[in-house]
Amino acid sequence: MSEQTSPDRPRRLSDRVLDGDPRAIARAISLIEDEAPQAAELVRAVFPHTGGAYLVGITGPPGAGKSTLVDRLTAQLRQGGETVGVIAVDPTSPYTGGAILGDRVRMQAHAGDAGVFIRSMATRGHLGGLARATHEAAQVLDAAGYDWVIIETVGVGQDEVDIVRTADISVVTLVPGAGDEVQALKAGIMEIADVFVVNKADREGADRLVSSIELMLALEEFGPDEWKPPVLRTQATSGAGVPELAAAIDAYRTHSTAGLMSRRRLRDEFRLRELLAARFMLHLETEVFRAGELAAMLDRIAERTLDPYSAAAAILSRALGRDGTGAVTLDHIGIAVRDIAAATTFYRDGLGLQIVATEDVPSQRVRAHFLPVGASSLELLEATSVESPIAKFVETRGPGVHHITLRVDDVRAALAELKQRGVRLIDDEPRTGAQGALVAFVHPSSTHGVLVELKQVVKD
Ligand code: CO
Repeated sequence: MSEQTSPDRPRRLSDRVLDGDPRAIARAISLIEDEAPQAAELVRAVFPHTGGAYLVGITGPPGAGKSTLVDRLTAQLRQGGETVGVIAVDPTSPYTGGAILGDRVRMQAHAGDAGVFIRSMATRGHLGGLARATHEAAQVLDAAGYDWVIIETVGVGQDEVDIVRTADISVVTLVPGAGDEVQALKAGIMEIADVFVVNKADREGADRLVSSIELMLALEEFGPDEWKPPVLRTQATSGAGVPELAAAIDAYRTHSTAGLMSRRRLRDEFRLRELLAARFMLHLETEVFRAGELAAMLDRIAERTLDPYSAAAAILSRALGRDGTGAVTLDHIGIAVRDIAAATTFYRDGLGLQIVATEDVPSQRVRAHFLPVGASSLELLEATSVESPIAKFVETRGPGVHHITLRVDDVRAALAELKQRGVRLIDDEPRTGAQGALVAFVHPSSTHGVLVELKQVVKD
């Protein structure tokens, strides 16, 4: 049942996705595929509603019959009343619009079944982002309420490994007589397999393929509680072996319940790192490099007059606005509060700041929340003990600004300069703070009433 909406206020796409509206889901995946600016907003909106679906990754070389296998597996899962979303990725073929036709053909097997959604993802010749786009499409289906999301990808290269590793279980499909074993081994796809499937198992050479996979597994050591990937035989065209595949997926799911959170955490880490790398490169290209600068740098590297390490260090300093010019920047403002939860809610809901880090500092007996504001941040501080300096501050002066932290290139040099000027220092020598930074405090009596912390970021 869709609620009544007024024509001048259309419902947001993300809300329609959460309702499971197939047209909204298709539109959302297109935005992700096109890397449209609205895609990031959409992913943000649906993200809190993900985590309910179980993600199955199925990969293998072209011609292994994966599409048919996925159709059969989908039908098998539907028999149990579960809903299934399928994303088929083919990084080996350029986008031609054929993907959409393929979807129509494939959908016919599940025509009229609202519990199945099938979608192909096309590559735009820019493979680095394909794993991310695939995973974001999977999140859309997850948020839309599908019980299972099957990610099917063709090939056995690094891109496929990256795509499949975003799933909760990885099924590697091989086919007899194609010589794929060696190729798959090389690409490292064997290491990511939780289940092996030898499809077209009626073909000659199936026995040999099964025993070569088993032989390879026999070389590895599995502990008594460790999952040993089973090697299954299927004939997708007839459906033989598909119930056993569904059972193996269930068995793995049960076995790995405890490890699921850490697997998903690894996946989140992989995705965050990848996103950061992509965003940082985009930032460099649009905000930092002057026209022709990167090419000129590469020329110098080619001539061996510049090494890549020095080039990277110079680019990084510029990008971070720390080019050794001695510029002092505001790192953060520390605010002593009585109730950190209430304060965080105010700055988040009232002013739209996001919390990025929480920290308990037992030595200072404080809890800290960091909320970025531009290149600086607010640090909300709540005492965890009456002995805490923050507790004493709040008791005598009430909640408020407790300190400001200025980032300097060289904290020792800064202290020497201040000392020479007769400034009253709390720390004559810097000490090691969070993330290995060197920090030192300057007394408020010399700074016109504010506790000033100097901080030097130490690179490893
Ligand atoms: Co601070």
